[in-house]
Amino acid sequence: MSGLQGKRILVTGAGSGIGRTAARMFRDRGADLVLVGRRLWALQETLPDAECVPLDHTDEAAVMAFARVCAPMDGMFLAAGELRTGSVAATPTSDFDAVIAANLRGPWLLAHHLGSKLKEGSSVVLVGSNISLRAIPDSAAYSVAKAGVHMLARVLALEWAPRRIRCNAIAPGPVFTSMVETRLAASPDPVGDLARLSGTNPLKRLGTEAEVAALAAHLLGDESAWTTGTVIPIDGGADAVY
Ligand SMILES: NC(=O)c1ccc[n+]([C@@H]2O[C@H](COP(=O)([O-])OP(=O)(O)OC[C@H]3O[C@@H](n4cnc5c(N)ncnc54)[C@H](OP(=O)(O)O)[C@@H]3O)[C@@H](O)[C@H]2O)c1
Repeated sequence: MSGLQGKRILVTGAGSGIGRTAARMFRDRGADLVLVGRRLWALQETLPDAECVPLDHTDEAAVMAFARVCAPMDGMFLAAGELRTGSVAATPTSDFDAVIAANLRGPWLLAHHLGSKLKEGSSVVLVGSNISLRAIPDSAAYSVAKAGVHMLARVLALEWAPRRIRCNAIAPGPVFTSMVETRLAASPDPVGDLARLSGTNPLKRLGTEAEVAALAAHLLGDESAWTTGTVIPIDGGADAVY
């Protein structure tokens, strides 16, 4: 039997990229999905039959309203996030605030208001980034926000352990999604940038959405029942060799 059979799992960022691929994979492995994102049509395009919740996860009132009606869950995959580039010096404070909200405040609010909806034995997976394990230039606010996500996973693992609820973070390297496409489109040298991005890891390629989703599926399922409080790089080996 699949490790996700019959589990009710909430996925944020389910209208595109890693979240969309993960939602479809979890469904194929037997899970019942609750899809969260700001664009209802995009969620419905991911899985027309799933429960779709149009929600800005940075909006506390909206998260609280959803928490009041949300049925008990077996897991959450919190994949929603937003990349804005820039150094500390070049990043406007408004961008810093937006990036912290989209990447850190959102998962915090969901954990804060939906934690009580998790059944004993649940599993939660947060999405961080491998550029929050080691510093690189030009993504300062995002790196700082995702570093907070990594620590949020560890803190939740500790707080939820008495209820046998696990929490882990995954730290992907560059994965070819619209997030990377947008970044390349804004670059004066997209071909060179893509080659450089691919070249930063020993496997010399970008990751795929399915590879990241498969790690999340493993962490959400009971086969990983003794894994909690970890931050797992999934980056073609980049973290091993920087
Ligand atoms: N792609 C990479 O190379 C890479 C590497 C490391 C980590 N990551 C992380 O992986 C996760 C998925 O990224 P992706 O590459 O799949 O990018 P993506 O396609 O841009 O997905 C991001 C998703 O987040 C949702 N979102 C953004 N802000 C939101 C908000 N305030 N409330 C609710 N939903 C919100 C968006 O949906 P709506 O616009 O419909 O709300 C979108 O579906 C992100 O956390 C990202 O930081 C990506």
